[in-house]
Amino acid sequence: MKNIAIFASGNGSNFEAVALACKNGEINARAVLLICDKPDAVVIKRAKNLNIPVFVCSPAAFPTRAAHEGHILDALDDTGIDFIVLAGYMRIIGKPILDEYEGRIVNIHPSLLPAFPGLDAIKKAFESGVSQTGVTVHYVDAGVDTGPIIAQKPVDILPGDTLENLEARVHETEHRLYVSVLREIFAL
Ligand code: GRF
Repeated sequence: MKNIAIFASGNGSNFEAVALACKNGEINARAVLLICDKPDAVVIKRAKNLNIPVFVCSPAAFPTRAAHEGHILDALDDTGIDFIVLAGYMRIIGKPILDEYEGRIVNIHPSLLPAFPGLDAIKKAFESGVSQTGVTVHYVDAGVDTGPIIAQKPVDILPGDTLENLEARVHETEHRLYVSVLREIFAL
């Protein structure tokens, strides 16, 4: 069975959905490590509740991005990580990690890429007046939300929707899509 590390920076609802699906056997992989760049992120509490080890690695402690990533890479090597799941990790993955893991890193993004890449994707879609947005799971390359797309799921923007309603529906859709994609990846 493969070992996965989940990278997250914030609330961690996707972290929790994926970690629980690993624990209950829905995904045939072990979620063995949370990598977090923010020492006070809510996701750390979620990991502790699930007894998943946490590696907190704040970039401020390192002189360069490469040094920061090198430190993370050591933790991945020490833990025997086979695959990386990005779940709201608010940093770009650089060369040290890509060189070792490209093709074995996935990300989830709250839009139908290539529409609305980058930050605040749900808000950008809501404010643009489109009638549909959605969720994308993709492999990670050196760009921002640009790697090969694995799966997408649309979410309609309904008349009378508030941004908060829409965010809730997008997040629910994310949790289901991420678990189903990872289930397929690890069934191969
Ligand atoms: C999600 O919308 C994810 O698609 C994006 O960041 C958000 C993280 O939410 N990359 P959460 O921390 O998993 O609740």
